[in-house]
Order: sequence, then C-alpha cells, then structure tokens
Amino acid sequence: MPVLTRRSLLEGGPEPQLGLTFPTGFVWGAATSAYQIEGSATADGRSPSVWDTFCRTPGKVRNGDTGDVAADHYRRYAGDLDIMKELGLGSYRFSIAWPRIMPDGRGPVNQKGLDFYRRIVDGLHERGITPMATLYHWDTPQALQDEGGWENRDTAYRFAEYAAAVTAALGDAVPTWLTLNEPKTVVQNGYLNGGHAPGFTDPAKAYVVAHHLLLAHGLAVQAMRPNLDTARIGPAPNLHPCYPADDSPEAAAQTLLMDGLENRLYLDPIFKGEYPADALEAIDAMSPMAKYVQDQDLKIISSPIDLLAVQYYTPIYVAATGETVQKHPLTEAFWQQIYPQGLTDILVRVKEDYGDVPLSITENGLPCGDVLDATGKVDDSARVEFLRDHFAAAHAAIEAGVNLESYHVWSFMDNFEWQEGFEQRWGLIYVDYESQQRIAKRSALYYADVIATNTV
Ligand code: FCB
Repeated sequence: MPVLTRRSLLEGGPEPQLGLTFPTGFVWGAATSAYQIEGSATADGRSPSVWDTFCRTPGKVRNGDTGDVAADHYRRYAGDLDIMKELGLGSYRFSIAWPRIMPDGRGPVNQKGLDFYRRIVDGLHERGITPMATLYHWDTPQALQDEGGWENRDTAYRFAEYAAAVTAALGDAVPTWLTLNEPKTVVQNGYLNGGHAPGFTDPAKAYVVAHHLLLAHGLAVQAMRPNLDTARIGPAPNLHPCYPADDSPEAAAQTLLMDGLENRLYLDPIFKGEYPADALEAIDAMSPMAKYVQDQDLKIISSPIDLLAVQYYTPIYVAATGETVQKHPLTEAFWQQIYPQGLTDILVRVKEDYGDVPLSITENGLPCGDVLDATGKVDDSARVEFLRDHFAAAHAAIEAGVNLESYHVWSFMDNFEWQEGFEQRWGLIYVDYESQQRIAKRSALYYADVIATNTV
C-alpha cells in the first residue's frame, strides 16, 4: 500500500522552493543502520553485539528500550524498499551487521546473515535505487568485546577479515562501500563519556581505541580492494566545524586544539599518513595511545580511498577556557545546534585541507518532537525547514567548487536512537512501533518534491 499519497499531508500544496537547482546527476538519498532498524536480534544465527549487551544493562538506555524489534525491518524490508522507491530515492545507505555475518567475530561466514543483505541489494537494484553499504555502524560482536574489543589490536584484523568476506560476496553490486561510521563517536561516547556501548569513561582506553579503529579502516581498505573492480571505498567520519566563542587569542588556541581532537585526529592519518602533532600532545597526557602505533600502521591507515563520506549535525563553539558554548538554537537532541552554514564551511575546508576527493553527505537530520496527530498526519515542518536550509548550504558548497556528489538524510525512517531509545524520531517516515505502520511525514513529501525536481 503506498504511504506517500502525494501532498496528502499538505493542505496548501507544495512547500516553497528557494530556486536552487543541483547539478545534473546529483544523488538524493537517505540513511539507516542495522541495529537501529532491523530487529530480529536472534534470527538466522545473529549473535549479540555490544549494543545488545548495553541495552540490557539497567539505566543505560532511556526507558530500557532495545533494538530487539526496532522497526522490524529485517522482516518488513520489501515494503520499506517500496517506500524508498515512492520517495524517489536515488541512493540508500544502510549498514551490514557484523554479528549477522560473523557471529563469533571471526570466520566462518553465516550464509543466512549474508543472504539478508543480498536481498536488500537485489531489492534496491530492482527498484532503481543504488545501494551504499556501511560495514561498521557500531555493532561490534560481543564475542570480540569479550576479548577486549577495539582496545585489542586483533579486532582491527578481524574487521578486515569480515570486510573481505562481505565484499567477496557482494562486490561491485554495491558501488560504494563505507568502512567505519563515525569512529569518533565510538571513541567519545563509547569510551570517554560512556553514553554508548561499551560504556567506558576512560581516556587511556579511548585513544588506543581511536588508533585501532583507524587501523581497522586501513586494513579493511586493503582487504576489500582485490574484491572490487568498479566499487569505491571510503570512511564515514562525523565532522564538526569548530569556531571560537569570542575574539580572544585563548579561544582561538582552544578552538584549534578542539579541531585537532574532533576532526584532524581522524582525517590527517587517512589523508596524510600522520597524526596531528597538537592532538597527539594532548592525547599523550591522557592515554598511552602512541605506544600502540606500530611501524607500518600509518601507511596502512593512509591506504588510498576513493571518496570521503561526511556526516554533519552540529558546529562546536569553544570558549577561552576550552569549554564548549551554545550559540544557536538546539534541536530535541541536547548536543545539536542548528547552523546550516557549518555544513558549507566543513565541506569547503575538507577540500582546502585534504584535496579534491569526491564528497558525499551520508548523514544530516534532526529530531523535532514528531507527533502523529488525530488525523493521522505528522506535520514536521521544523524538519522541512532544517533540511531546506542544509540543502541550500550544500548547494553553496558546490557553488564554491566542492565536488559533492550526494546527500543522504538521516534517517529514512524513525528508529532506535541509541541511548535515547525510541523517544527521539529522526525519520522522514514515521514508524508506529505498536502496529509497525509506516506514515509519510510532511518532510517526506517535501523531500520527494526536491528529488523529483533536483531543486530546493
Ligand atoms: C549519528 C549516528 C546515527 C544516528 C544519528 C542521529 O551520530 O551515526 O546512527 O544516531 O547520529
């Protein structure tokens, strides 16, 4: 049943446009990740990941929510792909669950798990949608966590083994392979503030983990290459443009350091084969990370990539004390300031500092208190406005000469938002978790028009 009765939500016809047309061939997409939507947590041989464990640890996730069922996408994927087609998506970014493919965290491959992703890939091609797959969206097999997880160098090798197995099976049918989703979030939320699995608050561990994640990226790039002829590979870091909160030289210095820890720590080793000196010095005071960097590691980490996937949600403003400051309105997410210009800035900056690598926006969006009203509609006009302004910011970056290929809204549909459980809704499509009914929000209709006209 179509969910997108065109304009069914809009009393007054199409949303106003800004008249910004994107280059021909620009790709409009949407993104999700495995644990956040799939459910079927024990189906077909899937083993627990660190997130299954974390959700079962009392007090970690709002309302004790888990991804056991989530949006039930594992069973309802065909209908979901139909909705993507109705929307007109050119690209769908999803993630592959490591614990479905290698339940023990190492070979052999679980064929049933692999088959699910083949059905997704085939189903997308049948509908004229290009698949984009992320190999790691935070669901480390618990079996590997039990051996130290990302603190253990061996996990990077296990990741490369898994990446090789998946690409050996799916290869060029997936034209874009992304290695790690937001390694920084694993470091900061998983190991520094403890809000995400595995829930540590330990800087010493955190930066060892950062190095092993980057190593995993590089090893995976090398392991996947022989399996791919035309498909491209890149990482998917979240980048945060950092600005001084005032004009003082102290704020400028603190902002530079923040940029080192937020952005250059992840980009420099990949693009330049070196860690940024200022970030390393700060890390030295907190973590023995440097001791874990072996001779050939930076060479491996800087293995050539084909594109950079950029995830943008919020800027960071830094005061003279080094503390962060809020300068713009927040969304429902306490950490997210609305500042579209930050997207233009970070895209232009990547080009200036790291060269003309093709860029793809693989996540951007917001939660805005979405409610299903009595007439069965979700009027998320705040999302329409947010997306329109960020699309315009992407357009400005293209005008400034940035080689931006695509835009993926986070998220295709409402899902399990990590420690916030199901309370925050980030989707274009509303999910009624009781009935598992899908309902197009106002923003979905807006986005369908943007896609159809390639114009914002
Ligand atoms: C990003 C994550 C994604 C989602 C959005 C809101 O950090 O990659 O899974 O949770 O934030």
